[in-house]
Amino acid sequence: MPMPSPCRVALVTCLELPEVDDDQAPLLAALHNAGLSAQVLAWETAAPADADLWILRSPWNYHLHHTQFLSWLDSVAAAGQLCNPASIVRWNSDKAYLVELAEQGLPVAPTVLLPQGSAPDVHALVTARGWTRWVLKPSISLGSFMTERFTLDQVLQAQEFADTALAGRAMLLQPYLSAVEDYGERSLVCIGGQVCHAVRKSPRFSGGHEAVTPVAIADDERALAERVLQTVAKLPCAPPIPLLYARVDTVRGEDGKPLLMELELVEPSLFLLAHPASLQRLVQEVALRAQRWSGRPVR
Ligand SMILES: Nc1ncnc2c1ncn2[C@@H]1O[C@H](COP(=O)(O)OP(=O)(O)O)[C@@H](O)[C@H]1O
Ligand SMILES: [Mg+2]
Repeated sequence: MPMPSPCRVALVTCLELPEVDDDQAPLLAALHNAGLSAQVLAWETAAPADADLWILRSPWNYHLHHTQFLSWLDSVAAAGQLCNPASIVRWNSDKAYLVELAEQGLPVAPTVLLPQGSAPDVHALVTARGWTRWVLKPSISLGSFMTERFTLDQVLQAQEFADTALAGRAMLLQPYLSAVEDYGERSLVCIGGQVCHAVRKSPRFSGGHEAVTPVAIADDERALAERVLQTVAKLPCAPPIPLLYARVDTVRGEDGKPLLMELELVEPSLFLLAHPASLQRLVQEVALRAQRWSGRPVR
């Protein structure tokens, strides 16, 4: 009998990366060291037959091609295994999920969803909520694309920005959470359902860069991340096994309690270079899925 062929793992990127994916080289090397067949493929040119297990890593242009990206996910998921699975990625690729999670009782950064084509009165919306500083950002977005902050004396600019942006996409309106400046946004990286490590990210708006520092995980942030993962696991679109990866981005609100700013289940940077234990854990989880998927030897 011929030997079965090995499970082929693809790390999914895009043709033109807007910035370097620091996770890519260490992850690829660690997968190879673990005896896995792995390569980096761009979603725009990869065909379903090119791999068996697809790990979304840096398709960092999907917000510009959302419909095509979701169709591509469905096509590879139909022929192979996609991590994270297409149904949860579809749900998570639009930050409207924040409103849904808030409705389920999770502490979420206050979020008003402004539908595409709507004509909201920004001044009325922010004053009704007592917000003197706020952020406007696309509902489908990444890398701080079209993400701008405003103060009350910039209300005309904010209205103009909202009107222009809303012609082409749905937007979110949130109060500016000033804790991003000092304590910082804290990203909790979760692998295989476990909270593994955390980083502090510097504030980042359109065109800016992000500085990242490793930090200890505060108890209340860990509790929030675990609660978010538990809530997500109960969604109808959630897979039956823990998500391969998740990143729970938190910011402290005015009362000092952590709020969910973003839950990243599509293509989060996982900051693996500074966290070798997390890298090894990710490789183990990938190997497990490769074995389960194919029932074939991992080589
Ligand atoms: N409500 C907010 N208050 C303060 N800073 C914000 C707020 N929303 C976004 N930002 C800044 O913009 C960045 C990008 O926004 P985010 O919601 O994380 O979307 P994405 O990372 O997908 O672009 C955040 O990391 C943070 O620095
Ligand atoms: Mg973010």
